[in-house]
Amino acid sequence: MKYTIFSLIILFGLSSCVDSSIESLEVKSPEEKVAVKFQLNDKGEPQYQAYFNDKLVIDTSLLGFDLNKSHGLKSNFKVIHVEESTFDKTWEQPWGEEQFIRNHYNELKISLQEVNDLERKMDIVFRVYDDGLGFRYEFPEQENLDNFEVIAELTEFNMVEDHKAWWIPAFEPNRYEYLYQNTPISKMGKVHTPVTFETSDKTYISIHEAALRDYSSMTIDATNGIKLKCELVPYSKTEKSRAFLSTSKTTPWRTVQLAETAADLLTSYLMLNLNEPNKLGDVSWFKPGKYIGIWWEMHINKGTWASGEQHSATTENTKKYIDFAAKHGFDGVLVEGWNTGWDGNWVENGEIFSFTESYPDFDLPALSAYAKEKGVYLVGHHETGGNIDNYEKQLTDAFQLYADNNVKAVKTGYVEHGNILSNGKYHHGQSYIEHFYRVIELAAKHKIAVVAHEPIKDTGERRTYPNIISREGARGQEFNAWSEDGGNPPNHTLIMPFTRCLASPMDFTPGVFDLTLPAKPSNQVNTTLAKQLALYVTMYAPMQMACDLPENYEKYPDAFEFIKKVGVDWETTKVLDAAIGEHLTIARKEKGTGNWFVGGITNEEGRTISFDLDFLEKGETYIATVYQDGEDANYKTNPESYTIEKVEVQKGKKMTFKLAESGGFAISLMKKAMQTSQK
Ligand code: NOJ
Repeated sequence: MKYTIFSLIILFGLSSCVDSSIESLEVKSPEEKVAVKFQLNDKGEPQYQAYFNDKLVIDTSLLGFDLNKSHGLKSNFKVIHVEESTFDKTWEQPWGEEQFIRNHYNELKISLQEVNDLERKMDIVFRVYDDGLGFRYEFPEQENLDNFEVIAELTEFNMVEDHKAWWIPAFEPNRYEYLYQNTPISKMGKVHTPVTFETSDKTYISIHEAALRDYSSMTIDATNGIKLKCELVPYSKTEKSRAFLSTSKTTPWRTVQLAETAADLLTSYLMLNLNEPNKLGDVSWFKPGKYIGIWWEMHINKGTWASGEQHSATTENTKKYIDFAAKHGFDGVLVEGWNTGWDGNWVENGEIFSFTESYPDFDLPALSAYAKEKGVYLVGHHETGGNIDNYEKQLTDAFQLYADNNVKAVKTGYVEHGNILSNGKYHHGQSYIEHFYRVIELAAKHKIAVVAHEPIKDTGERRTYPNIISREGARGQEFNAWSEDGGNPPNHTLIMPFTRCLASPMDFTPGVFDLTLPAKPSNQVNTTLAKQLALYVTMYAPMQMACDLPENYEKYPDAFEFIKKVGVDWETTKVLDAAIGEHLTIARKEKGTGNWFVGGITNEEGRTISFDLDFLEKGETYIATVYQDGEDANYKTNPESYTIEKVEVQKGKKMTFKLAESGGFAISLMKKAMQTSQK
């Protein structure tokens, strides 16, 4: 075993009083890139430090809890036991951005006991990987601790400098839907995780959590300069306690991802590794795919969710979408606004949503049969307006109805005003998190996948429940249709991969071709068309939407070919170049075919990007179809200018692209031999 533990003898030999002379315990990652030290200070308070490549990255930081109705679990501790172990196993994702993931860490479990009459016990477990660390609190069965209430988790992440940070604010009404800010840490305030930092010597650090269950979400409080502290989301408006724990439970893992380059952050699977293995068994009933939907037309005011003349979710309109999906090889058709409850102000009237009753002009069984005949399925939609109680009452019937109608994926939604749901509970608090799991588990029972909008942030639970396939949880494409601030700026999709998307696939819904939005004179999508194509590679999701209207795809059939062809399930992912907020190029190898797809994007600056096709198989010839910005492309005035070119390439070939401002390029690299044999 490569890690060392100091001072065990002193620790085991402790008497009942707290010994201030305790030296630290240390655990190192398998390749010794990351190290964590743990000690008790002279008040018996647990503390840790973290190092990356021998440099301090987290300075002495406290651990522990303030509890309701009893003394905090935070001081006067002694170490009663230390356990060290190592783990190294490679596991396979049923779907994902990487097929095989190595879970290799060294673990240090420190058992603490209070030096007082109560003698309450708490364990702290550190798992140290070469790409970061995770730690959590565990509570062994014991006499004087059973069910308890957390008022504050005292975990700190004290930074060593005022690093550059990318963050979105916490405790704001619009959940996670804010533009990322880039400021020094000291200007952050209270922020959601993942929050990502770049140090002055270009080390990358991202703080988040893994396996969030039976607890409230963690936000980061940076109101005290670079001394970052966990702040749990409250449980409800009235409850003083923020989380309810018991000795049978653990907290989620607190995670710190560490990388030498921004690119390496993107291929760190620490969050997934810290989640429990698949609980659902054989999930081959979910197949990654692509979908279109009755969706964008409502966002650009071409139709309505509500009933009436403009109602979009009619039987007739849905049939058109099904026909289009079948013609172009899409798997699913999302239909929003099919169920009663949308009339009036649906954000305020969540209690009137029915999840089983269709509007009279929408025939669910007939459409489901029609879709099935054409080899397509309907993607369901449950918008709750944040009224969880109304949804919970109907959950069983709602999922049964979808199961009976061959619906293979459901998009859920929790749009409410503010941070607090209509039942008084907090959006990111423990109660909503439990609701979220009830939905995932019930959906799994019916072999239905879930795409959650206004979700709880992802903390890697797709490893345990592979039917929670993607989430929104950030400003998605829809903001481009109606946001008063002018929509998502060019750098938005260049920050999200390094923040929000470190946690999970995102249902960003790329693919707008009619970028100037003629129906919305004050809005426009701030990218070129080629950049929209590239997003299918840079923004990973196992169910990718082609969000624009069928008639807009029909205007650009040659560019649409890329969306039809691009993979959705990957054997491996390689990041070819990356600078947060500036530029990003990713190559992904499709599972099963060995074909590669590359996407490259830039922010508001035009630039030239070069890379070698080193990742291709030696001796194999590939037909590269290259989609890129036209010479005269400009995301403001001429976004729909692009060129398409086919060339034969082999491993090692150098590719160079000129990207327009907020432009991009996309390449499909199909094995020539396979193309020829399919003819
Ligand atoms: C917000 C979701 O993000 C969006 O995709 C959906 O169309 C609306 N809510 C209505 O449910």
